[in-house]
Amino acid sequence: MPTVTVTRRVHFNAAHRLHNRALSDDENRRIFGLCNNPNYHGHNYELEVSVEGPIDPTTGFVANLDTVKEIVERRVVGYLDHKNLNLDIAEFAEANPTTENLVVVIWQRLEKHLPGKLVKLVLWETPRNHVVYEGR
Ligand code: NI
Repeated sequence: MPTVTVTRRVHFNAAHRLHNRALSDDENRRIFGLCNNPNYHGHNYELEVSVEGPIDPTTGFVANLDTVKEIVERRVVGYLDHKNLNLDIAEFAEANPTTENLVVVIWQRLEKHLPGKLVKLVLWETPRNHVVYEGR
C-alpha cells in the first residue's frame, strides 16, 4: 500500500516577549529586536500538521482530516489562541517562547493523539519566517 503524507493547516494568534533574564537589557534588545518589546506583541501563526501512513483501502484515506482538524483545534488552537505565551502557557514560565521552542511544545501536545504518525510540523511566525520540526 502506498505511503502518503496528509497535512492540515490551522491558524492561531498569540502574544509573546523574547527575553533572557541572564542577559542585560541591551543584550536582549540587540539579540531579540522588536520581539523584546517589554509590553509584548502579537503574531499571526500558521501551523501545518502532517501525518503519514498507508492508504486505508476501505476509505481511501491515510487519516480522516476531519478527525485531525478536531484534535489540532482542541489540543493546539484551544491551548494557544489569544494567549500570552509568556504568562498563560506553563511551558514558557522559564523557556523563551521562540518559534523553535513553540513548535516542540506543539509536537508534544499532538504526537500521541493523532490518527496516524505525526511526521512534520511547519510553524509560520510571519509570512516570511517559519520553522520545521520532525520530532528529532
Ligand atoms: Ni515576536
